[in-house]
Amino acid sequence: MKTFRLQIEGQSSDIEADSDASLFAAMTRAGIAWPVSCRNGTCRTCMVRLLEGEVRYEIPWPGLSAEEKKEGYCLPCVARATADVVLSRA
Ligand code: FES
Repeated sequence: MKTFRLQIEGQSSDIEADSDASLFAAMTRAGIAWPVSCRNGTCRTCMVRLLEGEVRYEIPWPGLSAEEKKEGYCLPCVARATADVVLSRA
């Protein structure tokens, strides 16, 4: 397991994101309230923009189009950090 830095735009402090847990789990552990529903990558409630860094997905087809992935959208309920990441709520 590796630990990466997770920064959320507008939040003053970074949090730790383990490579073997979702970004949403890291947010929850840090006390950050994030909108979530299905927690399995289909409903898109948790969608966020990945401004920096890289993620991998726990499931083969998270509910994002190839175009959305290319534009940097990310589903933190099923995304795991593979590098330090910066997310934007927008
Ligand atoms: S909570 Fe449904 S896709 Fe993340």
